[in-house]
Amino acid sequence: MSDDALFQAAEALSRAHYAVALTGAGISVESGIPAFRGAQGLWNRYDPAQYAHISAFMDHPGKVWKMLGELYGIMKRAQPNAAHIALAELEEMGLLKAVVTQNVDGLHQRAGSKRVIEFHGNGETLVCLSCGRSFRVEEVSLDELPPRCPCSGILKPNVVFFGESIPPEALSEAFEEARRCDLMLVVGTSAQVYPAAELPYKVAREGGTIIEVNLEETGLTHDLTTLFLKGRATDLLPRLVDLVKAEGQAFT
Ligand code: APR
Repeated sequence: MSDDALFQAAEALSRAHYAVALTGAGISVESGIPAFRGAQGLWNRYDPAQYAHISAFMDHPGKVWKMLGELYGIMKRAQPNAAHIALAELEEMGLLKAVVTQNVDGLHQRAGSKRVIEFHGNGETLVCLSCGRSFRVEEVSLDELPPRCPCSGILKPNVVFFGESIPPEALSEAFEEARRCDLMLVVGTSAQVYPAAELPYKVAREGGTIIEVNLEETGLTHDLTTLFLKGRATDLLPRLVDLVKAEGQAFT
Protein backbone atom coordinates (compact mmCIF):
# COMPACT_ATOMS: atom_id res chain seq x y z
CA MET A 1 0.00 0.00 0.00
CA SER A 2 1.41 3.41 -0.89
CA ASP A 3 2.41 5.88 1.81
CA ASP A 4 0.41 8.36 -0.26
CA ALA A 5 -2.85 6.59 0.71
CA LEU A 6 -1.82 6.78 4.36
CA PHE A 7 -0.99 10.47 3.99
CA GLN A 8 -4.35 11.13 2.32
CA ALA A 9 -6.08 9.23 5.13
CA ALA A 10 -4.26 11.32 7.76
CA GLU A 11 -5.27 14.49 5.92
CA ALA A 12 -8.92 13.39 5.68
CA LEU A 13 -8.96 12.41 9.35
CA SER A 14 -7.44 15.74 10.42
CA ARG A 15 -10.07 17.63 8.44
CA ALA A 16 -13.08 15.52 9.48
CA HIS A 17 -15.64 17.16 11.74
CA TYR A 18 -17.00 13.95 13.24
CA ALA A 19 -14.96 10.78 12.69
CA VAL A 20 -16.22 7.44 14.03
CA ALA A 21 -14.53 4.01 13.92
CA LEU A 22 -16.31 0.75 13.14
CA THR A 23 -14.23 -2.23 14.22
CA GLY A 24 -14.44 -5.98 13.77
CA ALA A 25 -12.58 -9.10 14.82
CA GLY A 26 -9.56 -8.22 12.67
CA ILE A 27 -8.47 -5.48 15.08
CA SER A 28 -8.12 -8.05 17.87
CA VAL A 29 -6.40 -10.79 15.85
CA GLU A 30 -2.98 -9.53 16.91
CA SER A 31 -4.11 -9.73 20.52
CA GLY A 32 -4.47 -13.47 19.93
CA ILE A 33 -8.24 -13.58 19.45
CA PRO A 34 -9.17 -15.44 16.25
CA ALA A 35 -11.30 -13.76 13.60
CA PHE A 36 -14.42 -15.57 12.42
CA ARG A 37 -13.87 -15.71 8.67
CA GLY A 38 -10.82 -16.17 6.45
CA ALA A 39 -8.08 -18.79 6.55
CA GLN A 40 -7.70 -19.03 10.33
CA GLY A 41 -11.31 -18.07 11.03
CA LEU A 42 -13.18 -19.62 13.95
CA TRP A 43 -16.07 -20.55 11.67
CA ASN A 44 -13.74 -22.91 9.81
CA ARG A 45 -13.60 -24.99 12.99
CA TYR A 46 -17.05 -24.40 14.41
CA ASP A 47 -20.15 -24.28 12.21
CA PRO A 48 -21.84 -21.00 13.22
CA ALA A 49 -25.26 -22.59 12.67
CA GLN A 50 -24.42 -25.10 15.42
CA TYR A 51 -22.37 -22.85 17.69
CA ALA A 52 -23.34 -19.21 17.19
CA HIS A 53 -27.12 -19.28 16.73
CA ILE A 54 -29.32 -18.68 19.76
CA SER A 55 -31.39 -21.80 18.97
CA ALA A 56 -28.19 -23.90 19.01
CA PHE A 57 -27.30 -22.42 22.41
CA MET A 58 -30.78 -23.11 23.81
CA ASP A 59 -30.82 -26.69 22.45
CA HIS A 60 -27.22 -27.68 23.26
CA PRO A 61 -25.76 -25.20 25.79
CA GLY A 62 -23.02 -27.62 26.90
CA LYS A 63 -21.82 -28.10 23.32
CA VAL A 64 -21.79 -24.36 22.55
CA TRP A 65 -20.05 -23.67 25.85
CA LYS A 66 -17.18 -25.91 24.72
CA MET A 67 -16.43 -23.32 22.02
CA LEU A 68 -17.17 -20.42 24.37
CA GLY A 69 -14.84 -21.89 27.00
CA GLU A 70 -12.03 -21.98 24.43
CA LEU A 71 -12.69 -18.33 23.51
CA TYR A 72 -12.81 -17.24 27.15
CA GLY A 73 -9.48 -18.93 27.74
CA ILE A 74 -8.01 -16.84 24.91
CA MET A 75 -9.79 -13.61 25.89
CA LYS A 76 -8.54 -13.90 29.48
CA ARG A 77 -4.95 -13.65 28.24
CA ALA A 78 -5.60 -11.04 25.53
CA GLN A 79 -4.16 -7.56 25.86
CA PRO A 80 -5.07 -4.44 23.87
CA ASN A 81 -2.72 -4.09 20.88
CA ALA A 82 -1.20 -1.07 19.11
CA ALA A 83 -4.31 -0.69 16.93
CA HIS A 84 -6.68 -0.44 19.90
CA ILE A 85 -4.28 2.03 21.51
CA ALA A 86 -4.07 4.11 18.32
CA LEU A 87 -7.85 4.52 18.27
CA ALA A 88 -7.81 5.55 21.93
CA GLU A 89 -5.12 8.13 21.09
CA LEU A 90 -7.22 9.54 18.23
CA GLU A 91 -10.12 9.93 20.67
CA GLU A 92 -7.80 11.64 23.15
CA MET A 93 -6.68 14.02 20.38
CA GLY A 94 -10.34 14.85 19.70
CA LEU A 95 -10.15 13.32 16.22
CA LEU A 96 -12.32 10.28 16.90
CA LYS A 97 -15.72 10.71 18.56
CA ALA A 98 -16.68 7.08 19.09
CA VAL A 99 -15.80 3.47 18.39
CA VAL A 100 -18.64 1.20 17.31
CA THR A 101 -17.31 -2.32 17.79
CA GLN A 102 -18.68 -5.70 16.78
CA ASN A 103 -16.20 -7.30 19.17
CA VAL A 104 -17.11 -8.52 22.64
CA ASP A 105 -13.57 -8.63 24.07
CA GLY A 106 -13.57 -5.27 25.88
CA LEU A 107 -10.10 -4.44 24.46
CA HIS A 108 -11.05 -0.95 23.23
CA GLN A 109 -12.02 0.10 26.75
CA ARG A 110 -8.88 -1.46 28.20
CA ALA A 111 -6.83 0.47 25.61
CA GLY A 112 -8.36 3.71 26.92
CA SER A 113 -11.21 4.41 24.50
CA LYS A 114 -13.99 6.15 26.41
CA ARG A 115 -16.91 6.17 23.97
CA VAL A 116 -17.32 2.56 22.86
CA ILE A 117 -20.62 1.23 21.53
CA GLU A 118 -20.71 -2.56 21.83
CA PHE A 119 -22.96 -3.56 18.96
CA HIS A 120 -22.85 -7.29 19.76
CA GLY A 121 -22.73 -7.00 23.55
CA ASN A 122 -19.83 -7.83 25.82
CA GLY A 123 -18.46 -11.23 26.82
CA GLU A 124 -17.35 -10.06 30.25
CA THR A 125 -20.73 -10.68 31.84
CA LEU A 126 -22.90 -13.80 31.89
CA VAL A 127 -26.67 -13.74 32.43
CA CYS A 128 -28.84 -16.47 34.01
CA LEU A 129 -31.51 -17.60 31.53
CA SER A 130 -33.83 -18.50 34.44
CA CYS A 131 -33.61 -15.69 36.99
CA GLY A 132 -31.85 -12.98 34.96
CA ARG A 133 -29.06 -12.47 37.50
CA SER A 134 -25.79 -11.39 35.93
CA PHE A 135 -22.23 -12.32 36.85
CA ARG A 136 -18.79 -11.18 35.75
CA VAL A 137 -17.21 -14.11 33.92
CA GLU A 138 -14.22 -14.17 36.28
CA GLU A 139 -16.65 -14.85 39.17
CA VAL A 140 -17.86 -18.05 37.47
CA SER A 141 -16.13 -21.41 37.26
CA LEU A 142 -15.96 -22.76 33.71
CA ASP A 143 -14.74 -26.16 34.89
CA GLU A 144 -18.20 -27.59 34.40
CA LEU A 145 -20.09 -26.61 31.24
CA PRO A 146 -22.57 -25.13 30.84
CA PRO A 147 -21.92 -22.92 33.87
CA ARG A 148 -24.97 -22.53 36.07
CA CYS A 149 -26.45 -19.89 38.37
CA PRO A 150 -26.99 -20.78 42.06
CA CYS A 151 -30.67 -20.99 41.03
CA SER A 152 -29.46 -23.77 38.65
CA GLY A 153 -30.36 -21.74 35.56
CA ILE A 154 -27.92 -21.89 32.61
CA LEU A 155 -25.60 -18.89 32.21
CA LYS A 156 -25.32 -17.23 28.78
CA PRO A 157 -22.67 -14.67 27.75
CA ASN A 158 -24.16 -11.19 27.40
CA VAL A 159 -23.35 -11.26 23.67
CA VAL A 160 -25.60 -11.23 20.60
CA PHE A 161 -25.98 -14.65 19.00
CA PHE A 162 -27.25 -15.01 15.45
CA GLY A 163 -31.03 -14.94 15.67
CA GLU A 164 -30.96 -12.40 18.53
CA SER A 165 -31.57 -8.69 18.15
CA ILE A 166 -28.96 -6.00 18.69
CA PRO A 167 -29.31 -4.33 22.12
CA PRO A 168 -31.73 -1.46 21.35
CA GLU A 169 -29.56 1.22 22.99
CA ALA A 170 -26.43 0.14 21.09
CA LEU A 171 -28.42 0.00 17.86
CA SER A 172 -29.85 3.51 18.18
CA GLU A 173 -26.59 5.00 19.46
CA ALA A 174 -24.55 3.44 16.63
CA PHE A 175 -26.92 4.71 13.94
CA GLU A 176 -27.00 8.15 15.55
CA GLU A 177 -23.17 8.22 15.44
CA ALA A 178 -23.31 7.17 11.78
CA ARG A 179 -25.81 9.97 11.07
CA ARG A 180 -23.48 12.55 12.62
CA CYS A 181 -20.36 11.07 11.09
CA ASP A 182 -18.56 12.56 8.08
CA LEU A 183 -15.69 10.06 8.16
CA MET A 184 -15.85 6.40 9.17
CA LEU A 185 -12.66 4.45 9.86
CA VAL A 186 -13.64 0.82 9.15
CA VAL A 187 -11.07 -1.49 10.73
CA GLY A 188 -10.78 -5.28 10.58
CA THR A 189 -14.28 -6.26 9.54
CA SER A 190 -15.43 -8.37 6.60
CA ALA A 191 -18.62 -6.25 6.66
CA GLN A 192 -20.74 -9.34 6.05
CA VAL A 193 -22.98 -9.20 9.11
CA TYR A 194 -25.96 -6.87 9.33
CA PRO A 195 -27.09 -4.50 10.70
CA ALA A 196 -23.50 -3.55 11.66
CA ALA A 197 -22.42 -3.61 8.01
CA GLU A 198 -25.18 -1.09 7.19
CA LEU A 199 -23.36 1.63 9.13
CA PRO A 200 -20.68 2.49 6.51
CA TYR A 201 -23.36 2.52 3.81
CA LYS A 202 -25.32 5.04 5.85
CA VAL A 203 -22.23 7.25 6.17
CA ALA A 204 -21.40 6.97 2.45
CA ARG A 205 -25.02 7.74 1.45
CA GLU A 206 -24.71 11.04 3.33
CA GLY A 207 -21.50 11.83 1.41
CA GLY A 208 -19.15 10.78 4.22
CA THR A 209 -15.61 9.46 3.66
CA ILE A 210 -14.92 5.77 4.27
CA ILE A 211 -11.37 4.80 5.18
CA GLU A 212 -10.97 1.02 5.31
CA VAL A 213 -8.09 -0.73 7.11
CA ASN A 214 -7.94 -4.43 6.26
CA LEU A 215 -5.55 -7.19 5.25
CA GLU A 216 -7.71 -7.81 2.21
CA GLU A 217 -10.50 -6.22 0.19
CA THR A 218 -14.07 -6.63 1.40
CA GLY A 219 -17.52 -6.06 -0.10
CA LEU A 220 -17.16 -2.40 0.90
CA THR A 221 -13.86 -1.79 -0.88
CA HIS A 222 -15.12 -1.34 -4.45
CA ASP A 223 -18.61 -0.33 -3.37
CA LEU A 224 -18.01 2.70 -1.21
CA THR A 225 -14.51 2.83 0.30
CA THR A 226 -12.81 6.17 -0.36
CA LEU A 227 -9.35 5.13 0.84
CA PHE A 228 -8.35 1.48 1.23
CA LEU A 229 -5.35 0.96 3.52
CA LYS A 230 -4.23 -2.60 2.93
CA GLY A 231 -2.30 -4.15 5.79
CA ARG A 232 -2.31 -5.01 9.47
CA ALA A 233 -4.23 -2.67 11.77
CA THR A 234 -1.40 -2.76 14.32
CA ASP A 235 0.97 -1.42 11.64
CA LEU A 236 -1.29 1.04 9.83
CA LEU A 237 -3.20 2.71 12.67
CA PRO A 238 -0.13 3.78 14.69
CA ARG A 239 1.44 5.14 11.47
CA LEU A 240 -1.79 7.02 10.78
CA VAL A 241 -1.68 8.55 14.27
CA ASP A 242 2.00 9.50 13.84
CA LEU A 243 1.23 11.19 10.51
CA VAL A 244 -1.70 13.09 12.00
CA LYS A 245 0.48 14.20 14.92
CA ALA A 246 3.45 15.18 12.74
CA GLU A 247 1.49 16.88 9.97
CA GLY A 248 -1.59 17.78 11.97
CA GLN A 249 -1.01 21.50 11.91
CA ALA A 250 -0.20 21.39 8.15
CA PHE A 251 -3.64 19.97 7.22
CA THR A 252 -5.87 22.41 9.03
N1 APR B 1 -5.49 -6.17 10.48
C1 APR B 1 -6.55 -5.73 9.75
N2 APR B 1 -7.56 -6.53 9.33
C2 APR B 1 -7.49 -7.83 9.66
C3 APR B 1 -6.42 -8.38 10.41
C4 APR B 1 -5.40 -7.49 10.82
N3 APR B 1 -4.33 -7.91 11.53
N4 APR B 1 -6.64 -9.72 10.57
C5 APR B 1 -7.80 -9.99 9.94
N5 APR B 1 -8.31 -8.87 9.39
C6 APR B 1 -9.56 -8.71 8.66
C7 APR B 1 -9.93 -9.86 7.75
O1 APR B 1 -9.37 -9.65 6.46
C8 APR B 1 -11.46 -9.75 7.73
O2 APR B 1 -11.90 -8.88 6.70
O3 APR B 1 -10.58 -8.65 9.64
C9 APR B 1 -11.80 -9.12 9.08
C10 APR B 1 -12.41 -10.10 10.06
O4 APR B 1 -13.67 -10.46 9.53
P1 APR B 1 -14.61 -11.44 10.37
O5 APR B 1 -13.81 -12.58 10.89
O6 APR B 1 -15.81 -11.71 9.52
O7 APR B 1 -15.03 -10.58 11.64
P2 APR B 1 -16.16 -9.49 11.74
O8 APR B 1 -16.28 -8.73 10.47
O9 APR B 1 -15.92 -8.75 12.98
O10 APR B 1 -17.48 -10.39 11.92
C11 APR B 1 -18.68 -9.71 12.20
O11 APR B 1 -19.75 -11.83 12.54
O12 APR B 1 -19.68 -13.95 13.38
C12 APR B 1 -20.16 -12.69 13.61
O13 APR B 1 -20.70 -11.77 15.67
C13 APR B 1 -19.62 -12.11 14.88
O14 APR B 1 -19.08 -9.80 15.35
C14 APR B 1 -18.88 -10.87 14.44
C15 APR B 1 -19.52 -10.56 13.10
